[in-house]
Amino acid sequence: MKYAIITGASKGLGKAITQRLITEGVHVVSVSRTENEELKKLAQEKQVYYNHFPCNLSLENEVQEVFMDIAHYIFQKNPTEILLINNAGVVEPIHKVGCMDPTPITRNIQINLIAPIYISNLFLNKAQHTNTVVQIVNITSGAAVRPIDGWSVYCSSKAGLNMFTQTTALEQAELKTPHLIIAFNPGIMDTDMQAVIRSSSTDAFKELERFKAFKENNQLVQAAVVSNALIDLVLSGDAENGKIYQINELIQK
Ligand SMILES: NC(=O)c1ccc[n+]([C@@H]2O[C@H](COP(=O)([O-])OP(=O)(O)OC[C@H]3O[C@@H](n4cnc5c(N)ncnc54)[C@H](OP(=O)(O)O)[C@@H]3O)[C@@H](O)[C@H]2O)c1
Repeated sequence: MKYAIITGASKGLGKAITQRLITEGVHVVSVSRTENEELKKLAQEKQVYYNHFPCNLSLENEVQEVFMDIAHYIFQKNPTEILLINNAGVVEPIHKVGCMDPTPITRNIQINLIAPIYISNLFLNKAQHTNTVVQIVNITSGAAVRPIDGWSVYCSSKAGLNMFTQTTALEQAELKTPHLIIAFNPGIMDTDMQAVIRSSSTDAFKELERFKAFKENNQLVQAAVVSNALIDLVLSGDAENGKIYQINELIQK
């Protein structure tokens, strides 16, 4: 039996990924602060197992407690495969270095980088001495490799996530485990995160007008298109351990 854990499943890309997985008959655990009732209904319709674990990923202790519970719950079912999608993310703080409050800095790094590291470590640990194969997808961003004025923390968190993905993949290959870890850059999507970006100021974010134009000119990609490309790759079994996938290469295929 296959289980998927999706962080940030309540909306945006995480919601679209979860909808697709439920439709494919995969049992899902959704993690976010709020629960999306549509997902629960869809799972009932499709008769797949669905459970929501509320968790504020910016709180270290809460992450540790909730994911210990999730790991305990899933491993006792002896799953053949666990798909872990570290999707939850925040873009804030959007400010130049020297103008940022300390709290949003910590929150960003905790949600975007520390939580995925902690959760990946936990699941690869628990999978030892079992027959369960763990497949991890870390949702990254083009900002991981392009410095963007006003986004120093977001760029750094996603760059860190890319390096964590590549290092973990190297270790798993050397250990000759069946586990696999990839990162995936979804491109610029029409989600609440883009609304947050558009509500920032030109003083804080130099590219504001460019990002407003993406929305006005209908250049934002729908989350459903992006999630389908990612889940097609994951379910195909063709994903390459350690690779950082870009949405464009998957859509052009
Ligand atoms: N949108 C883009 O253009 C874009 C581009 C490149 C990369 N990405 C990446 O794609 C991923 C998904 O982004 P999105 O655009 O779908 O964002 P979104 O619409 O803002 O959704 C963010 C998700 O993360 C969850 N989340 C935020 N803070 C949380 C916290 N403290 N604890 C638990 N969950 C939290 C939210 O759930 P709750 O609020 O219910 O907790 C929500 O489900 C992110 O990793 C983002 O960096 C997005």
